[in-house]
Amino acid sequence: MSSLWLDTSPAIPVDVFEAGGEYDVVVVGAGLTGLTTALLLARSGMRVCVLEARTVGAVTTGHTTGKVSLLQGTVLSEVRRYSSDRVLSAYVDANTAGRGWLLDFLDDAGVPYDVRGAVTYATTDEGARLLDAEEDAARTAGLPVLRGGGTELPFPVTSALGLAGQAQVHPMLVLAALAAELRSRGGRIVEGERVTGVSAARPAVVSSTSGETRAGAVVLATGTPILDRGLYFAKVEPERSYIAAFRIPGPIPHGMHLSADAPTRSLRAASDGHGEVLLVGGNGHPAGRAPSPAERVADLTTWTEEWFPGAERIGWWAAQDYRSVNRVPFVGWLPRGRGRIYLATGYGKWGMTNAVAAALSLAADLTGEPPEWARVLHHRVTKPIDLADGVRANAAVGAAAAREWTAAETGPELGPEAPGEGDGVVGRRGRAPVAVSTVDGRTCALSAVCTHLGGVVRWNDAELSWDCPLHGSRFAPDGSVLEGPATEPLGHAPRG
Ligand SMILES: Cc1cc2nc3c(=O)[nH]c(=O)nc-3n(C[C@H](O)[C@H](O)[C@H](O)COP(=O)(O)OP(=O)(O)OC[C@H]3O[C@@H](n4cnc5c(N)ncnc54)[C@H](O)[C@@H]3O)c2cc1C
Ligand code: FES
Repeated sequence: MSSLWLDTSPAIPVDVFEAGGEYDVVVVGAGLTGLTTALLLARSGMRVCVLEARTVGAVTTGHTTGKVSLLQGTVLSEVRRYSSDRVLSAYVDANTAGRGWLLDFLDDAGVPYDVRGAVTYATTDEGARLLDAEEDAARTAGLPVLRGGGTELPFPVTSALGLAGQAQVHPMLVLAALAAELRSRGGRIVEGERVTGVSAARPAVVSSTSGETRAGAVVLATGTPILDRGLYFAKVEPERSYIAAFRIPGPIPHGMHLSADAPTRSLRAASDGHGEVLLVGGNGHPAGRAPSPAERVADLTTWTEEWFPGAERIGWWAAQDYRSVNRVPFVGWLPRGRGRIYLATGYGKWGMTNAVAAALSLAADLTGEPPEWARVLHHRVTKPIDLADGVRANAAVGAAAAREWTAAETGPELGPEAPGEGDGVVGRRGRAPVAVSTVDGRTCALSAVCTHLGGVVRWNDAELSWDCPLHGSRFAPDGSVLEGPATEPLGHAPRG
């Protein structure tokens, strides 16, 4: 399915591509980062065009859980572990600014949202110890968290940490309102325009599906950056996870809950237009590296049925977000972009506040003075622990690359028979890795080599896509790009 949010989204009017168009800023990507940045720039009088490869909200923002919270699981203690109390305070200030701007915007635009308490809960003693560290970090950063043992959850917890007065949104209502104000101020939004390259000349030249656009500056709001300058794809880890929506016969917890223990369980209520439903998220893994995503969805469903008897699953979806090694997003100039190309990435599944903070920071970079928190966050020192974890993450990428290539090169030669419906296999033709799938009765044979940097893709048995285990590019069964740093489709398979 597509997500509850996309299924209940209002229509979002967009513009047609203007060949040879010239703008002050081109924003690439129409998720929360891109549309908020574009609106802030349009408000300051700039001519802005947003180029979106798919449709508004089609990737992570349209598939989020939509919690707008300063209590973010155990993130605050992780930020503190990797950095300093100064960086921790700046992180909380950035997220406070992001939350404040977003909720003010929604109030002004008349977009409804729910004010809810956020709870991080533990089910083990180890989880309770994580909450000790989180409570300490939150208090250090000045957040009025409450510690207790009781929750409204139907299963035993060992401890819980709460923060009142947070919020939950319908992310497509947010994007629709941002898009409406942006267009009312002369900004343009073009869908179906995949950007394949940006030259940092003056003006910058943006190449996309239908032609070229010129701009004084370019903002890459593409989830993970699509340009390889700065190697940001190797500095963030793509984590894919699953959300399922359930109708529940009994009461649905009112608060927004998130487990401190693994496997992650994230709960919130939402409306599907017919009544209240429970959203349950979790079972994340590095994108492209789970043997069977379908089993992850099934496990989430079984867990929910166990703790909420009578739960009826009405849909599920998946999405990925990018996590920086030290949990602080990367926002600012792209190296070798001559000060004309900017990026924002690495929100680690807390983009409802971090994306808006990134937009505030980027807009200030382009139009004025960045806030103090942005100066601290974007000029932080890398500690040895960051480097060690970065090396570990890249070693895992290297191991995944070697494993998939070895399997493809030494695996069986592909036979003439097509995979069954909904199935995909990687084999070889000669020495070339080939990916063959059958979806909706159509069998497609493609090169299995990811067009980003040559990883061998793997079949995703839940979403019926080809996913790259290296940096999270994903491709449809016909090879077209779905998301990630790749900008080109999978190639044709060599003839058998
Ligand atoms: C399962 C899950 C649950 C989450 N829950 C929460 C939550 O409860 N609270 C919270 O704060 N955060 C949450 N997050 C994180 C949050 O949803 C994201 O951080 C945020 O939506 C990212 O927004 P974005 O605009 O940066 O990216 P996106 O929404 O992915 O937007 C990027 C856009 O760029 C476009 N694009 C990419 N490449 C190109 C190209 N070459 N040319 C043109 N366009 C391109 C894409 O098509 C896409 O539309 C969650 C994330 C996940 C995965
Ligand atoms: S996403 Fe980088 S090699 Fe595939």
